[in-house]
Amino acid sequence: MTLIVAIDGPSGSGKSTVARGVARELGLDVLDTGAMYRAVTLAVLKSGVDPADAAECARIANDADLQVGAHVMLGGEDVTEAIRGPEVTSTVSQVSAHPEVRHELVDRQRAWIDERGGGVVEGRDIGTMVFPDATIKVFVTASDEERARRRQRDEVAAERAVDVDSVKEDLARRDRADSSREASPLRAADDAVIMDTTDRDVDDTVQDIVERVRAVSD
Ligand code: DC
Repeated sequence: MTLIVAIDGPSGSGKSTVARGVARELGLDVLDTGAMYRAVTLAVLKSGVDPADAAECARIANDADLQVGAHVMLGGEDVTEAIRGPEVTSTVSQVSAHPEVRHELVDRQRAWIDERGGGVVEGRDIGTMVFPDATIKVFVTASDEERARRRQRDEVAAERAVDVDSVKEDLARRDRADSSREASPLRAADDAVIMDTTDRDVDDTVQDIVERVRAVSD
């Protein structure tokens, strides 16, 4: 059986931290699909292509020499930090809304699992679209306040100081765009387990998921 742990949720929900913890506990690799959309967005911005031009964005996605692991490499260049910058963050929802771009990246996400025979995959549409037959689907949430606080903490740690109100506005704008787009909008799969991390320890959430995986795969 191919063991696939699908972890979806909005930004700042804690899903990346949870996904990494689950992967470590289970000895699996983890794929951050948001980093893939971010890297393609960076390539679009660098090339000067209009982010609204679906065909051109798709061409860039198809041609992208992209590796997503502990570091994100684009055309041999380490873009791990560059993809978290404000230009990419404010444009990524537009680029990731193009079905042609999604098509290419979803193919790569499925190939990633095929190569490994399983893994932990985190994003927005993993349980609904990419792996509808995943072993387990988790939808991670947290209150708007808590998500904004976490995002701001990340920004400060990366020396990109911004105030909490603008982080909140950016999150709300991105949530709206990601949830209302036509192609694979952000939503919990009907059979996903919803986990609210607002007042919950990361380790506790990770253990909960690991136990559920063991219960269905043993
Ligand atoms: O997880 P993140 O915030 O780094 O994701 C960046 C953007 O990528 C997010 O605003 C929407 C898009 N995304 C997507 O459309 N589908 C995914 N599976 C993952 C991310």
